[in-house]
Amino acid sequence: MNSKLDLLAQKKAEALLGGGQKRIDAQHKKGKLTARERVHFLMDEGSFEEIGMMVTHRSNDFGLEKEKYLGDGVVTGYGTVNGRLVYIFSQDFTVFGGSLSETHAEKICKIMDLAMQNGAPLIGLNDSGGARIQEGVVSLGGYADIFYRNVRSSGVIPQLSAIMGPCAGGAVYSPAITDFILMVENTSYMFVTGPNVVKTVTHEEVTSEELGGAMTHASKSGVTHFACANEIEAINNIKQLLSYMPQNCEEDAPCIAYDLGNELRPELNSVIPENANQPYDIRDVITNVIDTESFCEVHKHFAENIVVGFARLAGKSIGIVANQPAVLAGVLDINSSTKAARFVRFCDCFNIPLLVFEDVPGFLPGTDQEWNAIITNGAKLLYAFSEATVPRITVITRKAYGGAYDVMNSKHIGADMNYAWPSAEIAVMGAKGAAEIIFKNEISTAKDKDIKWKEKENEYMNMFANPYRAAERGFIDEIIKPEETRIKLIRAFKMLENKLDKLPKKKHGNIPL
Ligand code: HXC
Repeated sequence: MNSKLDLLAQKKAEALLGGGQKRIDAQHKKGKLTARERVHFLMDEGSFEEIGMMVTHRSNDFGLEKEKYLGDGVVTGYGTVNGRLVYIFSQDFTVFGGSLSETHAEKICKIMDLAMQNGAPLIGLNDSGGARIQEGVVSLGGYADIFYRNVRSSGVIPQLSAIMGPCAGGAVYSPAITDFILMVENTSYMFVTGPNVVKTVTHEEVTSEELGGAMTHASKSGVTHFACANEIEAINNIKQLLSYMPQNCEEDAPCIAYDLGNELRPELNSVIPENANQPYDIRDVITNVIDTESFCEVHKHFAENIVVGFARLAGKSIGIVANQPAVLAGVLDINSSTKAARFVRFCDCFNIPLLVFEDVPGFLPGTDQEWNAIITNGAKLLYAFSEATVPRITVITRKAYGGAYDVMNSKHIGADMNYAWPSAEIAVMGAKGAAEIIFKNEISTAKDKDIKWKEKENEYMNMFANPYRAAERGFIDEIIKPEETRIKLIRAFKMLENKLDKLPKKKHGNIPL
């Protein structure tokens, strides 16, 4: 028996070395952790159980039969993060550059199937040179097997992808289907075609970082939700994100015990500037309403005219969508609509109640927006809110104009509670524009047109630039003092805790993509 135990120990030691010490050193020199170190930092101490450690590839082409590494370039298994079960795969760049072979893909698929069957999140740590070139089409099949499972798992279990090295070609599509992507600045990149191909085809000179680095995707394309300064920050972000989510779509997110105390927040009374055209930072509202330091902002650098993220309210997980008056006056455009729509759909998939702060002057005008389909893209947000069956509450802090009023979780599209601050202005459009249209004749025939215009603008403003007309109709349930917002929301979400709302029977909806 002893010799058999020795053989096992020897094999395990061999597997733990991946592609060998030299390649591990090279990985460290690039400022990267190894696949196993990443798993170690993510999982609770001692909780990780590895599956498939002895797997090797089956290829005999290009001399590969002489080059085999136990594990075949990916560490897979399960363990706990903050005491909760997760499944994980972590690609090992020290073995054939973490490239995906037939068996490497099989290992990932096995973990994905287990995650689905047992209803726990799947975490993918990506660091790979793409398809194992020596294996050809076999590895392409492996990718498709993974994509298929990503799609089938979507909305059933949370799927998180961290990009910690290369992720190129078709390999990008697995993370793209998952719920959240985190990238590490300077050591990771994602692109469908790399700088060399770009140069050949479009004659553009661009570095990997410029083309597909973390900040590029965090700010320009929106492909990644988080740009992390280093791998440890990325791992900590994964832990934090998981803390707001349930294990699967049948469960509720974990809740932290909270005893009610003095929940008034007088600071909120002075957030809105006297002049309605002055900007303010909606985060000042958010942080004064939610539990201390509980905000986890998602997509922070993309479409900054809308703010989305997870938070806790009296210990309970919520998703927040908020227009940001400090950027583009909080207008809705293509990017902010798709950003918010995707977040709303995630929250709805996983039973996370939604809180909306609204201060929106309307949709952004212009040929750029119209020609790039603000109609279709704006409709995504309308669709996402309308189909969401989780508890939904809106607080209108200031402007709620035009179609954007409808879209931002209005009562008409199924919001459960709609509050407005006394500073709210709920109308078809701004008073100046409205006066110009409906009092056109009166203004044009007046002796002093400017005075008449101002008079009519004031008339319209007095009539509609307030929350009372909407409250008369019941479109607003209550006009509240800003300082009461937190306690009102705590009570309303508690009241909605057992909300039951089901979509009509259908195969699936047809969101305007
Ligand atoms: C097999 C690979 C590999 C691959 C890297 N290696 N990529 N082996 N298949 N795809 C091996 C290298 O031979 C090397 O082996 C080791 O991994 C490290 O690679 P280096 O090139 O030394 O590292 P680095 O300089 O950091 O460059 C990393 C890299 C580069 C940028 C990823 O290796 C690269 O460009 N690789 C090829 C990328 C690619 O074209 N992949 C196919 C894309 S098509 P040794 O033995 O020296 O350590 C694709 C289709 C998917 O993925 C479609 C799905 C639908």
